[in-house]
Amino acid sequence: MSFDQSKWVWRNGSIVPWEDATTHVSAHALHYGSGVFEGMRCYETADGPAIFRLEEHLDRLYQSATVHGMDIPYTCEELTEAICELIDRHDFKSCYVRPLCYYGTSSLSLHPARCPLEVVILVWPWAPYLGAEGLEHGVRVTVSPWKKFHSEMMPTTAKASGQYINSVLAVREAVSRGFDEALLLDVEGNVAEGSGENLFVVKDNQVFTNDERHSILLGITRDAVIQIARDLGYEINIGPISLTDLLKSDEAFFTGTAAEVTPIREVDGTLINNGERGPVTKEIQSAFFAATSGRHQRYRDWLTYVVPQTVAGIH
Ligand SMILES: Cc1ncc(COP(=O)(O)O)c(C=O)c1O
Repeated sequence: MSFDQSKWVWRNGSIVPWEDATTHVSAHALHYGSGVFEGMRCYETADGPAIFRLEEHLDRLYQSATVHGMDIPYTCEELTEAICELIDRHDFKSCYVRPLCYYGTSSLSLHPARCPLEVVILVWPWAPYLGAEGLEHGVRVTVSPWKKFHSEMMPTTAKASGQYINSVLAVREAVSRGFDEALLLDVEGNVAEGSGENLFVVKDNQVFTNDERHSILLGITRDAVIQIARDLGYEINIGPISLTDLLKSDEAFFTGTAAEVTPIREVDGTLINNGERGPVTKEIQSAFFAATSGRHQRYRDWLTYVVPQTVAGIH
């Protein structure tokens, strides 16, 4: 990925040139990871660019901020307007959107009391996170020696900057051994999630995923896929997933805003569905992309158009 096409950043209420959106080296967040953020995707549709599940992402941003004692000085409507304006200004047909609220410069005491809360939004085009090839043929995954932190150590359902060092360690280690992605177990030894994705497995035509009791971020894509799979007639089972469940599954896939719906074709040398994307994964993936591109009428409410639709009945 690159920021080559990003020309502006929304910062604390106004749009500024990309190169001016700098922060001082004494910023609290740079030292301690004291920020909360979101990641969402804006997709190309026949009615112009539309952000997938914007409301849910902003809800989670405010929830993450609350958990970390931050008071975001902008309303949800203001951030929605800012995001749409920034995408429109870039004229992007599709892109990734990254709002970030972080403590800036004032003091490096651990308690950020006097530090100003900075709010920024970045947008850039971002190809499929685990590769277009990965979307079609699946990715190779390894179980990480790093465990996913438990919710008693840090709030797992919030999306805070500092906690991502756990994911960074895991993905670096996985890639250094030639894998595409890491799979983290929870402290009890069950499967938690990927470094930036939730996990689903398919067995005997039933779909399984875990929940926050297994130290996962409650993904918005996960939620969309649960709804899509139910609508397609699959039974969804939510509960612990052991490594054996995964290794013996008929199919497995990751979900996430960045990774979308990516099949898993191998876990540490064990092939899943003979190393190919499985039929259930393919069906769910097709419905997901129909939803993100506005081709699936049932899920039109999940889209926020960057330029509001005026034709009656679109919203
Ligand atoms: C650790 C982790 N788990 C799961 C997800 C998937 O969440 P979502 O579908 O909301 O992007 C993400 C991505 O944000 C993540 O970083």
